[in-house]
Amino acid sequence: MKLVLVHGSGGSSLSYHYQTRHFPDAVAVDLPGHPHGAPCASVELYAEWLRGYIGGRGYRDVVLGGHSLGGAVVLTYAMKYPDEVRGLVLVGTGARLRVHPDVLAECQAAATDKAARQRWLQARAANYAKVAPDVRGMLLQKTDEIGPAVMHGDLVCCDRFDILERIGQVRARALICQGDEDVMTPVKYGRFLAEKLPSATLEVFPGGTHQVMLEQPDAVNQAIGRFLGALR
Ligand code: COA
Repeated sequence: MKLVLVHGSGGSSLSYHYQTRHFPDAVAVDLPGHPHGAPCASVELYAEWLRGYIGGRGYRDVVLGGHSLGGAVVLTYAMKYPDEVRGLVLVGTGARLRVHPDVLAECQAAATDKAARQRWLQARAANYAKVAPDVRGMLLQKTDEIGPAVMHGDLVCCDRFDILERIGQVRARALICQGDEDVMTPVKYGRFLAEKLPSATLEVFPGGTHQVMLEQPDAVNQAIGRFLGALR
């Protein structure tokens, strides 16, 4: 089994720093534009890119993992290509991902204004407050490299994503991981997925935020390990 992990808006493979070290068969992708190449303009296009990535490497027996935007990408993939997905690991995500206009405006301003960019970076640092300082430093450097314009484009993709009415079409078995302090994608979103998907387990991590896989790597890895074990 190959675990292929997809990061969230403006993120990178570093989001899965702890998972790629723990699971020998895991690979975390850098979506196009993060930072190399041009970003995609929709969740559907990211899903097609991911399919090309997987096909190009000849991965078979694939379990797809996604965080936030990445969750939207892998849900879309699983809906369109059900026979190609063995299972889903959904972290801090949902079937609809509306984005607060202030968050979009903050990113847009940061793309053109130096002071706004500084504030944007400080806000990113605050989002990683519960991540170990060495990893937080690497994440912030990468976030800065990828930049607010790419993040803004990704958030627009999220804002347009809505499969609330079609979630029943996803057949893959799923593990859903949610931090109970996640304000970007609240636990309610995970509960909705758990109720609507045909076979899903919801794991709620006390004290976890939107970055729970970076904050509580041991607990999250254990949950993923149990899920992969059950799939085998
Ligand atoms: N799963 C289950 N329920 C969902 C959902 C999901 N993925 N997305 C929305 N809903 C529910 C909401 O809980 C709400 O239910 P309620 O009426 O019982 O309270 C309803 O659908 C409508 O909510 P929403 O789509 O969020 O629209 P809104 O106009 O009320 O609010 C925002 C829009 C942007 C203000 C709000 O979504 C928000 O604050 N989002 C979180 C912050 C953010 O920017 N997140 C980024 C995620 S990438």
